[in-house]
Amino acid sequence: MALSIHDCCRRLKSHIMRIDRFFVSLLLISQVFGVNKENFKTCDQSGFCKRQRAMEPGKSPYVVMMDSINVKPSKIEVQVLNKENDVRLLLEVFTLAHNTARIKINELQPLKPRYEIPPGDVLIEEPKQQQMTVTDVSNSGATLTFENNKIIIHTDPFRIDFLANETPVVVVNAQGLLKFEHLRTKEGWFNKMGSTIKSWFSKPFRQGKQDPVPNEGEGESNADSQQAGEVAEGEKPAEEEKKKEDNEEPSMWEETFKTFHDSKPNGPTSIGLDISFPNFEHVYGIPEHADSMALKSTKNTDPYRLFNLDVFEYDLYNPMALYGSVPVMLAHNIERTVGIYWNNAAETWIDIGSNVADKMADLVKGMEMPQVDTHWMSESGVIDVFIMLGPSVKDVFYQYAQLTGTTFLPPLFAISYHQCRWNYNDEEDVKNVDASFDKVDIPLDVIWLDIEHTDGKRYFTWASDKFPNPVDMLKHLGAKGRRMVTIVDPHLKRDDNYKVYSEAKSKDLMVKTNNGVEYEGWCWPGSSSWPDFTNPEVRKWWTSKFQYSEYTSAPNLFIWNDMNEPSVFNGPEITFHKDVVHYGGWENRDLHNLYGLYVHQATSEGQLLRSDNQERPFVLTRALFAGSQRFGAVWTGDNTGEWGHLKVSNPMLLSLSLTGITFSGADIGGFFRNPEPELLTRWYQAGAFQPFFRAHAHLDTKRREPYLLPEEHMRSIRNSIRLRYSYLPYWYTLFYENERSGTPPMRPLWVEFPQDTQTFTMDDEYLIGSDLLVKPITEQGQTSTSVYFPGKGVVWYDIENFEAYNGDGSATINAGLDKVPVFQRSGSIIPRKLRIRRSSALMTDDPFTLFICLDSQGKASGELYVDDYHSLKYKNGQFVHKQFQFSNNILSSKAVPGSGSYDTKEWIERVIIVGLKKGITKVVIKSKDGEQALQSGYDSSAKIFVIRKPSINIQTDFIITLQ
Ligand code: GLC
Repeated sequence: MALSIHDCCRRLKSHIMRIDRFFVSLLLISQVFGVNKENFKTCDQSGFCKRQRAMEPGKSPYVVMMDSINVKPSKIEVQVLNKENDVRLLLEVFTLAHNTARIKINELQPLKPRYEIPPGDVLIEEPKQQQMTVTDVSNSGATLTFENNKIIIHTDPFRIDFLANETPVVVVNAQGLLKFEHLRTKEGWFNKMGSTIKSWFSKPFRQGKQDPVPNEGEGESNADSQQAGEVAEGEKPAEEEKKKEDNEEPSMWEETFKTFHDSKPNGPTSIGLDISFPNFEHVYGIPEHADSMALKSTKNTDPYRLFNLDVFEYDLYNPMALYGSVPVMLAHNIERTVGIYWNNAAETWIDIGSNVADKMADLVKGMEMPQVDTHWMSESGVIDVFIMLGPSVKDVFYQYAQLTGTTFLPPLFAISYHQCRWNYNDEEDVKNVDASFDKVDIPLDVIWLDIEHTDGKRYFTWASDKFPNPVDMLKHLGAKGRRMVTIVDPHLKRDDNYKVYSEAKSKDLMVKTNNGVEYEGWCWPGSSSWPDFTNPEVRKWWTSKFQYSEYTSAPNLFIWNDMNEPSVFNGPEITFHKDVVHYGGWENRDLHNLYGLYVHQATSEGQLLRSDNQERPFVLTRALFAGSQRFGAVWTGDNTGEWGHLKVSNPMLLSLSLTGITFSGADIGGFFRNPEPELLTRWYQAGAFQPFFRAHAHLDTKRREPYLLPEEHMRSIRNSIRLRYSYLPYWYTLFYENERSGTPPMRPLWVEFPQDTQTFTMDDEYLIGSDLLVKPITEQGQTSTSVYFPGKGVVWYDIENFEAYNGDGSATINAGLDKVPVFQRSGSIIPRKLRIRRSSALMTDDPFTLFICLDSQGKASGELYVDDYHSLKYKNGQFVHKQFQFSNNILSSKAVPGSGSYDTKEWIERVIIVGLKKGITKVVIKSKDGEQALQSGYDSSAKIFVIRKPSINIQTDFIITLQ
């Protein structure tokens, strides 16, 4: 039977739709059965990791060629020779402002440029340099100093010591694991290796793949300074012929993993380096891993892996890669904290511990000291390491903030409570959720819509049968100050009738295969393509998609970026092929971990454009890299409704916090499975004291909004959400501090108690700011918990009943289902709002209650930051920032120097003082408005002193005297 073209097309389309459904079903089925480790590489299955990890300590072939040294005011350049293959590297040592140093190592004469992250994309700008003094240069090395730091470069074997105040703190290449795979040509390598090795690459291995062909348009864009591919294969400089190749093996030129082939047109390009931390026992950071906060030795496991991947229902306590990568590590001991940032966006593995401990014998003679040895291995790029020398952990936060920026102050709704589910089905459903929260008196700021709200997973569209009037729906929510977030993923359905796709296609904005054609893969919509967000022009185009003319929405609609690792259901390790080609001709191999950041950045900038740079954006992302903090919030992806996942959320968020990603949260309740009400309740209690507070659930789970739970659980959850709202002024002030200093709101105990060794590995309790200690219950059936209270002489007050607990010891705290163990530190003043309403926006003008917990000297202090809670006007000084001090029975409120002004209606309605010794008979307030006696009284059951109705606007400086 002859088929018409029309029939053919229809059949093809229905075929494609069936395949589409098949893939999505496969994904959903696999989600039910949890992580399939087989989908993800081990180090042994990754050619470069295996080669790098095989390096033996103590055999470094690298020597520094001192005759090549070139000293500049804040930089030393010198060549480093690999004695085994005669390849020369260029070492650059920079001294930077804020106690920071940088080392870069690249090939002296690479065959073509190696990838470097474009300035401004992760580093906010070229870091400020700090002049150095070179005190010694000889054949055995060079010594230079800057601020109180010293850097010693040793020539043979090559090594660099970093000393802070004469104490060695970081050593580079102490173990001699530097391995720099120089670029080489395939022909040269094949000729040298001879026919035996050629046969390794016999037909079946290469089947179906062509040798790489030049990318479309490569000719024109070669002018770009980022452009790879300047020397064609075979055109080697004569000198290159002489170079000996090292550790040759077939995985250098192509690799297969499962059925996936990686063409590796550039051959081996990996880099590796060891970095030791003498006198430190604990290192932290390098998220994202479902693991403890203090990093563990990888002696008997794989190294920690940083490669952005979609790993749903991930396993706990292992070094497998997850959705995000932040190559930042902190080392802490009782004297200091130091940090390093490994500025490389390729797949990276990090070993911790050492095979052979280098005791730094020649640095600190006769002293045995502990040391953490780390080994960093990346698939491509250059070695570019920032060394942040502290000395305090807050100095390191600041130093890192100078490099990659900080989280901008979130709008208030963003740190309030979010209700999400895959999916709220239609407008009716949304209205019900909205109304149901009001019925049970639980505040709610944001309702989220997942992928089903779109027309067939075409982002920026609405399913018109289910959401016929999105703008009315948004208005309805807006009337209560509520917002909505919709999902916008980066994969575009390959449908020429879908405007966003057809535009991207016609403008040639997509990521390409190594054959130069539009890359195609499978994701939620079925067959999809991905805009190349690494291209600034593509990001610019994307920002225009959020305009009201392009996307039917309203100012109270914000965005969620998911699947941006990116997730490719039928790709190797569920992501892009490594040899796909991005802007500038770079391979995904070079910059994989940056793709998600660029999606997040473009979306955040799209929201800024939508409001003409007036309003703060809010964008949640799943994939992330160093610097992602600048574009919004992150969450820890597809966790499971199990107790273990609740427990691990604390160390995961602490690790993110320590490395600059300070606005982070985990799906409350767990994304997969149906958590029992007890688990859900405990999860809400933890989430109420974590930075990003959102409940979310998988499509196949039972509905679990708080109002659907048994009364007892609903009440506890209501209590914890209301607690969150009461502390919003404190959180908001902390986020303001975070924007300026980099210090995260959620902190390990050792950030505030740096000498308390007991806290160095403690990740089941943590601090919010310096003054709230939180110990979430994370075990089933638990009705009490042992809480460790840090700080000799510090007293911790239970926020519920003001029971006092002495620091530097532990106590058992009863923690029935309605109890969140949270304690306020003596010596602190925390502003709260106690009139809880339906949304944070409705509480804008409400008054504050100051909670003052006195220390043993009868003193306390605290801060409060206030602005309009949503716009960018605070950047122009439209804010109020107050410093409260209590001492000698006088409470004062003064503008923090440099504070702006903002005309707020907020006022102080009450002051509660805990720990007041003397009987007070009279309380007087003085301000520019005059002097007035205030009502007050001692509440003996609660053991608190209460001052009623100072009724003073928060803008006004005042003094309250207690007599
Ligand atoms: C991914 C996300 C999850 C979302 C789902 C559907 O699994 O991690 O949060 O609900 O995709 O969009």
